[in-house]
Amino acid sequence: MCGIVGYIGPQPAAPILLKGLEKLEYRGYDSAGIAVRDLERLSVIKTVGRLQDLRARLEEQGVPQGSLGIGHTRWATHGRPSDINAHPHSDCSGRIAVVHNGIIENYKELREWLVEEGHTFKSETDTETIAHLIERFYEGDLVDAVRKTIKRLEGSFALGVLHFDQPQEIVAARQHSPLVVGLGDGENFLASDIPAVLEHTKKVYIIDDGEVVRLTSDQAEIFDFAGRPVRKEIFEVAWDPVLAEKGGYPHFMLKEIYEQPQAVRDTLQGRLNGGRVVLPDLTLDLAYLRGLRKIFITAAGTAYHAGIVGKYVIEKLARIPVEVDLSSEFRYRNPMLGPDCLTIVISQSGETADTLASLREAKRLGSKVLAITNVVGSSVTRETPEVIYTLAGPEIAVASTKAYTTQLIALYLFALYLAQERQTLSEQQLAEYIAALEQLPQAISATLSCEEAVVGLAQEFKDKEDIFFIGRGLDYAVAMEGSLKLKEISYIHAEAYAAGELKHGTLALIVEGVPVFALITQESLRDKMISNIKEVKARGATVIGVANEGDRFAEEACDQVIFIPRTNEILTPVLAVAPLQLFAYHAALARGCDVDKPRNLAKSVTVE
Ligand code: AGP
Repeated sequence: MCGIVGYIGPQPAAPILLKGLEKLEYRGYDSAGIAVRDLERLSVIKTVGRLQDLRARLEEQGVPQGSLGIGHTRWATHGRPSDINAHPHSDCSGRIAVVHNGIIENYKELREWLVEEGHTFKSETDTETIAHLIERFYEGDLVDAVRKTIKRLEGSFALGVLHFDQPQEIVAARQHSPLVVGLGDGENFLASDIPAVLEHTKKVYIIDDGEVVRLTSDQAEIFDFAGRPVRKEIFEVAWDPVLAEKGGYPHFMLKEIYEQPQAVRDTLQGRLNGGRVVLPDLTLDLAYLRGLRKIFITAAGTAYHAGIVGKYVIEKLARIPVEVDLSSEFRYRNPMLGPDCLTIVISQSGETADTLASLREAKRLGSKVLAITNVVGSSVTRETPEVIYTLAGPEIAVASTKAYTTQLIALYLFALYLAQERQTLSEQQLAEYIAALEQLPQAISATLSCEEAVVGLAQEFKDKEDIFFIGRGLDYAVAMEGSLKLKEISYIHAEAYAAGELKHGTLALIVEGVPVFALITQESLRDKMISNIKEVKARGATVIGVANEGDRFAEEACDQVIFIPRTNEILTPVLAVAPLQLFAYHAALARGCDVDKPRNLAKSVTVE
């Protein structure tokens, strides 16, 4: 996600802002900028690229000398990475500067209204709309203007705002995007994350949703959006800087596992509207969607496992045949596709060489291509106009977790969109799926409460030679992902198998004490799964089930069961994967492995 910093006090602001942004670099970004108020103006210096590029630009243009400023590192969501799309953003007069984390869903209609009011825009971002709204409402009181502005915003935001005419304050606000105030001695700090202020103070206010802050050098006044004062307790930060960089988590992977509820919420945001799925960035027309003969999905690793879930879901909901290929195989098998086919490429980084090559092969054969990716401006987005972004925020750990679950969300949304446009689902059915999707963030949070039980399993199985994951249907797809997670970070040999296929060979490997994770979330296949569990138990396996809450049959058949909240059967992969992610994490930890940077692996495989 993006990073926000702010400073007000007696010291020059620019060096403090830059150092604060450095502490947030780990969050991943594609551009950076600062705004500093000195005697003559509000200087805004920003650039696409890294902080060293911003430092170079400051050297070129001269470092502004004021002691009031805000800064930002941007992870693009609306508008490609570029100098002009970098934050801070200004109003028409250049007297207001804004930095923003989050997504303003209704920015297009606000922008249209502001243009009609005579405002001129420079960037493609949703954030610039905020600067012009504040300009529109400003009548001498910046807090009041910001409050009037946020009443018009729909979506998520953490804001930092400066006005040249208000040299004694920074105004900030929070709605669904983190924001903290660092309390210094005769100086105060603003940040999107605690690491950015730790060098100066351990005393912070955690700003909550619905709160506005007026920050001066000796005071932090907090109000609710209605303008009523809010009392805050000071939070003493006990973390050391290294721990703080991961938001208090010991590893990025664990932090990203726990970010999944928010990542899923962000990926759904603005795409479920009045009982319909809306994908405004797609230009695939109705005739094309209705004439589709076949869909191909191609991806690598975890993204491939998401694609297998996508196959089941698109075929079930939209009744279109789907083939799924590993991207390293796809272009070498002469796939039979053409203009009446759609090829979906899935890639967190948008840079995987095999997946890019598959995209180009599909286009060469005449197929339109839809990319599902987490990185705005990545290579796949430059080679097809049809993109569905996952909004997971930067994924730092090599082992993919929140990218996987948000890829599933993107596939569910597209499958429902196809079903809606091809009328293969009734309105009632569509509404039921949408309601179930909206429940997922809290269901994931509830599922993560299994962590304590999983730690025990990791201790029990950490020295095992082989661990198996079995399932049927969607559960088999999730078994593949669980197996990859475990082997890539704990180095334990793990294998996923279609449960019904065990007796055709792999059962020979099931001996006394071999752990088998059995996924049993597909009610229609549960009896078959119970038989397969009995098959492996008869050979001495220890079976850990992942099942729907209250499933007594699973409880009786397995040695231990991790329950997930009940949801619509096609959505269970989003929940069932969480215990497997946590198991892989704790098994790797128990074995002393480098969880975030496993041996031999890279976060993005940009070579074949
Ligand atoms: C997943 O945990 C791995 N890091 C790896 O399999 C990854 O999913 C694969 O390399 C694809 O990456 P992409 O999504 O960026 O294309």
